[in-house]
Amino acid sequence: MVGKLFVYVIMPIVPIVLNKLKSNRYVKSENEDKADVMTKQDKIKILILDDEKQFTEELNESFLNSGFLSFEANTEIKAREILADHDIDLMILDVRLMGVNGLDILKEIKVQFPIMEVIVVSAHGDMDTVIKAMRLGAFDYLRKPFRHIDMQIAIERTQKYIQMQRKLKLLEERNSLISKTLEKKIERQFIGVSSKILKVFEQALTAANYPESNVLITGESGTGKENIARIIHYSSTRKDYLFCAVNSSAITETLLESEFFGHKKGSFTGAITDKMGFFEVCHRGTLFLDEIADMPFNLQAKILRATEEKVITRVGDTKPIHTDFRIVSATNHDIEESVVEKKFRLDLLHRLNTLHIHIPPLRERTDDIKPLLIHFVTDYSIRFNKPNIQIADEVYDLMTTYSFPGNVRELKNMAERAIILCKSNLLGVSDFPIKQPKATKKVPQDEMANLKLVEINMIRNALKICNYNQTAAAEMLDVSRNSLIRKMEKYNIALNKGE
Ligand SMILES: Nc1ncnc2c1ncn2[C@@H]1O[C@H](COP(=O)(O)OP(=O)(O)OP(=O)(O)O)[C@@H](O)[C@H]1O
Ligand SMILES: [Mg+2]
Repeated sequence: MVGKLFVYVIMPIVPIVLNKLKSNRYVKSENEDKADVMTKQDKIKILILDDEKQFTEELNESFLNSGFLSFEANTEIKAREILADHDIDLMILDVRLMGVNGLDILKEIKVQFPIMEVIVVSAHGDMDTVIKAMRLGAFDYLRKPFRHIDMQIAIERTQKYIQMQRKLKLLEERNSLISKTLEKKIERQFIGVSSKILKVFEQALTAANYPESNVLITGESGTGKENIARIIHYSSTRKDYLFCAVNSSAITETLLESEFFGHKKGSFTGAITDKMGFFEVCHRGTLFLDEIADMPFNLQAKILRATEEKVITRVGDTKPIHTDFRIVSATNHDIEESVVEKKFRLDLLHRLNTLHIHIPPLRERTDDIKPLLIHFVTDYSIRFNKPNIQIADEVYDLMTTYSFPGNVRELKNMAERAIILCKSNLLGVSDFPIKQPKATKKVPQDEMANLKLVEINMIRNALKICNYNQTAAAEMLDVSRNSLIRKMEKYNIALNKGE
C-alpha cells in the first residue's frame, strides 16, 4: 500500500530530476564539500534508505569518511527529496522498511532511474528475497548484521561498475560524435553528376541497406573505391562501429594471420600480449579489404571460413570468438583472371561479391571532371589560403580530352599542385601540365609533323569551301566553333580569303 503511494509520489519528481540533469544544475551540499578530496569523475553519490536511524547514521559517516558523497533517509519521503535534488548513483536499500516492501521500491527505482544501482540490505535475508532482489536488478545483496569490510567490498565493486558504465557512455557519445562528423565529411566528399557515377552512388546506398551482405568494388586505381566503401559503411547501421581499412599487400606474410585473427600471448616470438585481430576489432563494423587480389593464397581459405562462420580463433588459442563483421573488398585487378590463374579462390570470390559495384574510369564519365575540379580547387585554395581562384574554360576542354590513367586521384593531385604553384588568380591550361600515360605509344616526330599538315590542310579546305564562315566550317569538320578558332590560332591560320 505504502509502496504504491511511493510510486505515485515518485512519478512527478522524475521530470524534475531530468530537468535538473538537462539544466546541469549542481546542488552542492555540505556533504559534497567533505568529499572534495576525490576527483569529480570518481565521486559516486550514495543514498541510504533504512528506517533504523542509528544504522543510516553510522553508514553515512563511514561513507563520508571514505570520501563518497553520501545522504541518509529514514523515510521514503526524505528519500524522494534527496532523489529530486541529487543525481544519486547508488542506493543502499533496506527491503523491510516500516510497512513498505523494499522490493516494490526496488522495482520502481529500476524503472524510474534505470542507471542507478541498488545494494539491497535486510535483517531478514532469505534466499527467496535475494533471488527476487537480484531478478529485479539489484547489483548486490547484504544480510544484516554485516561486517564493515563486506559493505566496503560491495561498494567498491559497484563503484567500479558505475565508473565503467560512465566511461562506456562517454566513449559511446564520443564515438557517435566522431561518426557523425565523418558522415558529414564523407557526404561532402562525394562529387559527381554523371549518370554512371550516380548509378554507383545508388548501388552504394542499396548495399548500405543490406549490412550483412559482402560487397566487392572494382575499378581502376584512383576511381574512388575506398570512398564508396566509406559511404556504404557510414550510411549503414554499422556506422557507429569501426570502419577498418586493411591493405593485405602492405603486411608481411608471416604477420598476416595474426593481424587478421589476433594472437594469444606467447604463441610466437614477439607475441608479448594477447592481441585482437582485424576480424575482432571490426565487431559490428565494416572490414574493408583493399587490393583483395594480392591476398596470399594460403590465407584465403582461412578468410573464407571466418567470413562464412563469423567465428574466429586467435593464433595459439583454442577458444572460438564470435564476431559480426561485414566485408567490403576492393580491387583494381581483373579478379576473374586471378581466379583463372589460380591466384585467387573462386569460392572466396563468390563469398565476397554478393553485391558488386563497378566504378567506371573518369575518362568514361567526363561530366564529372568539372564539378570534381571545382571541388578540389576550392578545397585546396581554402587549405592553402589562396582565395578567389578561378578556372579558365580551356582547362575543362583540355581535361575532357585527357585519359586520366590515375583517375580522380590524379585530378585531385593536379588541383593541389596548381594551387600551390599558381602565380595568378586565374588557373589556365599551363597550370595543369598534362602528361600522356606511359602506356601510350609515342608518335615519331616526322609522323607528328605529317599529322599536323593533314590537320592544317583540312581546316584550310573547310574554310575555303564554307567561304571563310567559321561556324559553317566547324560544322563541316564536326568540331565546336571555339575549338576551330583555337586550332586556327595554334597553326597560325588567318581568316584571309587570299591565304
Ligand atoms: N566521387 C568523388 N568525389 C570526391 N572525391 C573523390 C571521389 N572519388 C574519389 N575521390 C578522391 O580521390 C582519391 C582517390 O580515391 P580512393 O582512394 O577512394 O580511390 P581507390 O579507387 O581506392 O584507389 P586505389 O585503387 O589506388 O586504392 C581520394 O582522395 C578520394 O577522396
Ligand atoms: Mg584504394
